[in-house]
Amino acid sequence: MTLKVGSWIDERAGTGAIWQAVFLRKIPKVNWLYALGSASLFVATMQFVTGILLTVYYVPTPDHAYDSVQYIMNDIAFGWLIRGLHHWGASAMVLLVFLHMLRVFYMGAYKFPREMTWVSGVFLLLLTIGFGFTGYLLPWDQKAYWATTVGTNIAGSVPLIGELVKGVLRGGENLTALTLARFFGTHVWVLPAILLLFITVHLYLVIKIGISAPPKE
Ligand code: HEM
Repeated sequence: MTLKVGSWIDERAGTGAIWQAVFLRKIPKVNWLYALGSASLFVATMQFVTGILLTVYYVPTPDHAYDSVQYIMNDIAFGWLIRGLHHWGASAMVLLVFLHMLRVFYMGAYKFPREMTWVSGVFLLLLTIGFGFTGYLLPWDQKAYWATTVGTNIAGSVPLIGELVKGVLRGGENLTALTLARFFGTHVWVLPAILLLFITVHLYLVIKIGISAPPKE
């Protein structure tokens, strides 16, 4: 039955060729270090799913943010699990993406013809850090508030454009409801949209070019 449905769709949409190119393509003999890219992809997917679930109860305003997180942790069925996965997933993602980048660098996989894969990867790393920075403020507790105060102060210390950048990040002089709103908007709409775009480009290139073999001595 599944096969019949599959070939019915394939005859009309050519999905078999896509399946072949993505899942049945030939790859060189590699080792476990080559799984770091897929591990990053797995955690990114998990962050999308758990993040969407968190938005069901999280409220991005100064008078409700902290309480809504406590509510998720203590009163919602499996809320602690969803938030825990999202919280630790954030650190895991930074670590995995960074290790994946080290693997690519160490094995020289950034060289021709994979320069564009590397550059799209650099954007993915910056986006991952952006997620961490904007997400950290959302629980609106003391740690979040002061970490973002320090973070935005660091941005403010950049010569010439620093004050402007700090003002844009904070939405004014201090950390207020405006800051929380724009960090939330960036965290759940802007960054995910750009991340999806860059993951698509990155994976397209990985599949189109094929992955590199581990270098010989
Ligand atoms: C969200 C972040 C990222 C995801 C989901 C991701 C995903 C992947 C996947 C699935 C592969 C193929 C398997 C592998 O080689 O591990 C790959 C390959 C590659 N990635 Fe990433 N990646 C990310 C970040 C980065 C970063 C930060 C860089 C470098 C700055 C990078 C550069 C590359 C390159 C050059 C390849 C080709 C490697 C080869 O052909 O051997 N990626 N990526």
